[in-house]
Amino acid sequence: MHECHREIAHWLARLEVEVRIDAAGNFRALYPATNPNSPRLLIGSHLDTVANAGSYDGILGVVLAVALLEELQGRRFPFAIEVVGFSEEEGVRFGIPFIGSRALVGRLDEDLLNTQDPQGISIRRAIEAFHLNPNEISQAKLPNDTVASIEFHIEQGPVLEQLNQPLAAVQAIVGQSRLEFAFLGRSNHAGATPMYLRQDALAGAAEWICIVERMALTVPGLVATVGKIEAKPGATNVIASEVRCSLDVRHANDEVRILAVQKLIHGAEEIASRRKLSVKENTLLSQPAVAMDPFLTSEIEKAIVRAGCKSHRMISGAGHDAMILAEKVPAAMIFLRTPRGVSHDPAETVMIEDVERAITCGLHLFDQLAASPEFLKRTTLA
Ligand code: HGY
Ligand code: MN
Ligand code: MN
Repeated sequence: MHECHREIAHWLARLEVEVRIDAAGNFRALYPATNPNSPRLLIGSHLDTVANAGSYDGILGVVLAVALLEELQGRRFPFAIEVVGFSEEEGVRFGIPFIGSRALVGRLDEDLLNTQDPQGISIRRAIEAFHLNPNEISQAKLPNDTVASIEFHIEQGPVLEQLNQPLAAVQAIVGQSRLEFAFLGRSNHAGATPMYLRQDALAGAAEWICIVERMALTVPGLVATVGKIEAKPGATNVIASEVRCSLDVRHANDEVRILAVQKLIHGAEEIASRRKLSVKENTLLSQPAVAMDPFLTSEIEKAIVRAGCKSHRMISGAGHDAMILAEKVPAAMIFLRTPRGVSHDPAETVMIEDVERAITCGLHLFDQLAASPEFLKRTTLA
């Protein structure tokens, strides 16, 4: 991440843009407005990735923001433009996502800072190891003059490819729940223990995982995923005594999502009691669905059309920092087509023509906002 920050700072040095890394590890760079004391528009995305990731999820949104500033060639607007590269959006290391963007909305609290990674290192310690001071996290908060947040991001799904559209405006981001489950049984000899005498934690977890999939297949718009599973002691000839697995449940409607999670918890408890196992679950995240700002979204649609594309609105199945920023500022997103709909995988890619159209769309959006009485009214009210 240090190298990534250095590289982006190097690109921005040519534009004389001041760069800082805030106490939550977010990359922050301010492109000034025509006049000082002007409000600011935030544009960016996250710089971290999942394991075995592609090369565009998150970082493309930051690279596009830099490219937009380069295209301006010194032109200024009645608003400053702050480029943000969020840290820890994915939640890979600590299990909890949106750590960087929570700092911007004042939600990276003491509790969260004490969350530990599997090696027992807390977020607080990890920030110190990154040569930052966690006691300065309050300084990472969004300044009150922030009037909008825009995030360019790959769609990460098949919709735009099927529509043969390069860009889309995101109207809402689905809610998501993240939990961890532990199925506890009894280890025993794989050869000498008759089947009817087993308390097999792995067989129990496997039965439950099939229920997770079956439920998601029967509830329209619901997605549920067990992406991580770990069995102990993890030997071929030992019946597993403990299985820990993740659960990721998402839906555009929070009630449907929350009901699905409750049913899956009850399902795990039913399987456990029938198999003489015990089961514990811990909720790591229950993030409500978030609507994007209607005004900004309509301006994005206009900019998409002016960039020569058909406008399209869609719901995001993936979570994004925009859903956290939306707690404090009007937030909006622009999706770029994801060829073959593959993401969170090295095969993830974009079409260069779509990136070019995204830059054209972004320049139109800046011009539209600079000329919009509605937007400028927001700036005075901010
Ligand atoms: O998991 C997600 O939705 C995103 O990639 N962080
Ligand atoms: Mn991702
Ligand atoms: Mn992402």
